[in-house]
Amino acid sequence: MVTPMAHIAVRRIQSGDYEALRMLDDAVMRYSARAFLGFDWDSASSERREEQRAITPDIFAFYLHTACSFVAEDDEMIVGYVLAQPLRHFDLEPLAVWVEDISVHPSHHRRGIASALYRTLHDWGQSAGATAILAGIHVDNAASLAMHRHVGFDLYESRTAVWRLD
Ligand SMILES: CC(C)(COP(=O)(O)OP(=O)(O)OC[C@H]1O[C@@H](n2cnc3c(N)ncnc32)[C@H](O)[C@@H]1OP(=O)(O)O)[C@@H](O)C(=O)NCCC(=O)NCCS
Repeated sequence: MVTPMAHIAVRRIQSGDYEALRMLDDAVMRYSARAFLGFDWDSASSERREEQRAITPDIFAFYLHTACSFVAEDDEMIVGYVLAQPLRHFDLEPLAVWVEDISVHPSHHRRGIASALYRTLHDWGQSAGATAILAGIHVDNAASLAMHRHVGFDLYESRTAVWRLD
């Protein structure tokens, strides 16, 4: 029997990880488009794909330097990541950790990889003095809602107000 977590190591994201994360993002987006975003990744235009991606040069460059973005590797490749940043949210928590994205390769789901990434982020957050981890989750993303509940998050319904400046 395979031990689910036997070969998974979690480490901080590094500058050489971009190509591997971009390939992982392709697999995750193909899955997510079908599972809860409601479109077909392979027939979508390249502009639509780029809009939806979690891994772009700008996003990668930013999260490389937040100190709290991590990847999970098995013996062969990067199979998951969490992109996060410290956030001062004075009316809620003096210091929180904001999760931009957490994703795992579809062929590696349900092996505890997202949970392992969150354990590392949790420990980092505690040692940095943060009092909460915050994440935004698509309402139709059943797997993510279940995983966040499983890890220990409380789920709230909320509305987001956006005043566009462009
Ligand atoms: C959501 C996601 C990150 C979960 O990653 P994962 O590594 O499979 O999660 P884990 O194995 O740590 O799951 C832990 C627990 O969460 C729950 N869970 C995870 N996926 C689930 C699913 N599809 N259905 C029901 N429960 C689920 C289970 O309780 C699971 O424990 P179990 O397998 O022992 O029953 C993964 O499905 C994914 O990458 N999805 C596409 C990208 C995405 O939606 N990211 C989240 C953005 S907010």
